[in-house]
Amino acid sequence: MIRSRIIATGSYVPPKVLTNFDLEKMVETSNEWITSRSGIRERRIVERDVATSDLGTQAARRALEMAGLSPEDLDFIITGTNSPDMFFPCTSCFIQAKIGAKKAAGFDVSAGCTSFIHTLSLADKFIKEDPRRKVMVLGAEIMSKVTDWKDRGTCVLFGDGAGAVILAGEEGERGILSTHLHSDGSLWELLYMPGGGSANPSSRETVEKNLHCIKMAGNSLFKVAVRALAEVSQEAMQFNGLKSEEIDYMIPHQANIRIIEAAAKMVNFPMEKVYLNIERYGNTSSATIPIALDEMNRGGMLKAGNLILTCSFGTGVTWGGAVVRW
Ligand code: ACO
Repeated sequence: MIRSRIIATGSYVPPKVLTNFDLEKMVETSNEWITSRSGIRERRIVERDVATSDLGTQAARRALEMAGLSPEDLDFIITGTNSPDMFFPCTSCFIQAKIGAKKAAGFDVSAGCTSFIHTLSLADKFIKEDPRRKVMVLGAEIMSKVTDWKDRGTCVLFGDGAGAVILAGEEGERGILSTHLHSDGSLWELLYMPGGGSANPSSRETVEKNLHCIKMAGNSLFKVAVRALAEVSQEAMQFNGLKSEEIDYMIPHQANIRIIEAAAKMVNFPMEKVYLNIERYGNTSSATIPIALDEMNRGGMLKAGNLILTCSFGTGVTWGGAVVRW
């Protein structure tokens, strides 16, 4: 059987660190509150002149280098992002141009923080259609530019970064075993950015009302998130006839340590097998999972045949999961 195997990973986070202590000087908050409520200690923030495709380009180059491929070898570039360079063209086209992937077809996916799972799912379909293809998928975000730095309920949570993986068709048991995608659009008001689109086109008023920033009902989203992560994890394991004991690592979306702990508990998943980097990067939206994958891969944690369960949730509300045999 042909499967889509992850043959390389890459990631990039900007060098500038914003700690909880820095935030204490910006809004009424404390390091103690942020760490105990979210598990975040610091996050990375871009300089003003950096765009999302710049972060994606760095991650893409690192993945290409690991794969030993040239940019022209890529057939697709699919970027999950909620903070694109521009409304159009898509961020994938900017990345394509910057790395010189002349043959690739580029497009973006906007499904909240779950977007990276969607890109994996699409890559899998493109490869099953033609196993000779090489598909790069990314999660790339600059959340700091859509953050209201006066809103303590959101500004402590997010960060910037990008991760990339390259998939190729391979005969055998290694690769993506399944992907599972869901959404419930009736819950859109739990997390959204109202300004700039056709509902509220950019105007002096949208700027004055701060509509170009994240609006979030954190507490309600928290409950939805725990249930969604647990349910999709269960669904993904059941689909593959797997029990939590058989999974080597869970890589959850890094939004809040308490969400992760509660969801892991619901599916009997010990925290020792859950990969965490939220402490260092905060919530980089669709980039959290590919950054984690790259850290684990480069850190030598992942062995051929390891079973990985990844799961995410985000604005929409969307949620999804995937099982990968490394
Ligand atoms: N510092 C200090 N106090 C704060 C802060 C802060 N940064 N933010 C909120 N508070 C206060 C609130 O005002 C509230 O005060 P009150 O009791 O006087 O009204 C109190 O702390 C408790 O607020 P809650 O919102 O109930 O706190 P909670 O325990 O729910 O934690 C949090 C808040 C961290 C936002 C949590 O709800 C959460 O993580 N929700 C999910 C958010 C999320 O995952 N978003 C992104 C998902 S999708 C994506 O990744 C793009």
